[in-house]
Amino acid sequence: MKILVLGSGAREHAIVLALASESASHELLAAPGNAGIGRDATLVDVDMLDPTAVTTFAKEHAVDLVVIGPEAPLVAGVADTLREHGIPVFGPGRQAAQLEGSKAFAKRIMEQAGVPTGRAVHARSLEDTAAALDDFGAPYVVKADGLAAGKGVIVTEDRSAALAHAEQYLPKGPVLVEEFLSGPEVSLFLLSDGDTVRPLSPAQDFKRALDGDAGPNTGGMGAYSPLPWLAEQYGSVQAFVDEVTEQIALPVVRELDRDGSPFIGLLYAGLILTEQGVRVIEFNARFGDPETQIVLPRLATPLSRLLMAAAAGTLEDESAPEFRDEAAVTVVLASEGYPASPITGRVITGLDEAERIEGVHITHAATRRDGDDLIATGGRVLNVVARGATFAEARSRAYEAMSRIHLEGSHFRTDIAAQVA
Ligand code: AMP
Ligand code: GLY
Repeated sequence: MKILVLGSGAREHAIVLALASESASHELLAAPGNAGIGRDATLVDVDMLDPTAVTTFAKEHAVDLVVIGPEAPLVAGVADTLREHGIPVFGPGRQAAQLEGSKAFAKRIMEQAGVPTGRAVHARSLEDTAAALDDFGAPYVVKADGLAAGKGVIVTEDRSAALAHAEQYLPKGPVLVEEFLSGPEVSLFLLSDGDTVRPLSPAQDFKRALDGDAGPNTGGMGAYSPLPWLAEQYGSVQAFVDEVTEQIALPVVRELDRDGSPFIGLLYAGLILTEQGVRVIEFNARFGDPETQIVLPRLATPLSRLLMAAAAGTLEDESAPEFRDEAAVTVVLASEGYPASPITGRVITGLDEAERIEGVHITHAATRRDGDDLIATGGRVLNVVARGATFAEARSRAYEAMSRIHLEGSHFRTDIAAQVA
């Protein structure tokens, strides 16, 4: 198949690597990509945010399938235009992508679908915000309504910090004040063709910048999969996955269909396991980053087949995706100053030495080539991904590989997957 992957992060690199590892030989194209993606796919020059440009490119180059990685092209309506022209695309249309783009829309759909989530109030002024904060009590949760790359949320014991956060976003629209939910977090990805959903393997993401879940929220500093501890609570990991599929994902997909905006793509359920049961914290309309980097390497079913079936509306004919019984851990290397103000433009070395370790590969998040040099171009620079028979093995491989990589001033968390190793 000729497959065009849109995006430029480690998530898209992971998608490209999964497609490249299939036995069938695909022609892989990526736009805009990055230095790592450029090793595994042909980088092409098309503006991924321009629906017409992407559609024209796909037609002219007889692309069989377009896979949309990040949220921005979804919100820009790239999937809608491709679909109007009969080009198979993995990624929801603009309206269904509001499930991620608008927390108000997501709450409405969840309410209509009877899906369990935290109680929330939309505050349009500081006075409303203060009243809602006092109503829910500490810890306080305040969220910006639109896309904010993981930075729009504050969870704090400090009422004045919560108010200051609201003040920052209120000029752009209402903020959401939410009840604090306590418990472990789980990311579950589900493929959807608008009607049938097929779950992937659950993962856990580390959103805070520093060890021990300290520091500010980030786009994600590391992840591991699967989650063995789910079996203790639910009897088996499968029992948990089945419950989320039946009680959360299917009702939401059906509700979106009724709403006139079928969800074709990747439904990412961000969940908290409270003592009262599973609650949705957020939905995303795309693969998660960095969880994709450790979920896809364990996938035994060919990814292209699943993505194509979702795009074509034939997921019902596919059996459940299968996963290898191994542990996978990823650790993100971040630039100095990330997340507040990352310093970019510095040289990265040691990747070849790192990838010589058994079970290890690197996905690039923000890199470019400059002659023989590899340059960091963003906050989250790359992911070390390690697999092993056990989490202890995968972890030690990941951190051994990380110790061989050098980027001045960079930082990473040292406690990724420590609890399961
Ligand atoms: P979100 O962008 O909505 O996924 O929120 C980012 C992070 O903030 C989540 O991964 C949680 O760790 C935390 N968070 C969000 N909402 C809540 C909540 N209602 N209660 C507790 N923590 C939350
Ligand atoms: N891992 C968090 C996200 O992709 O939004």
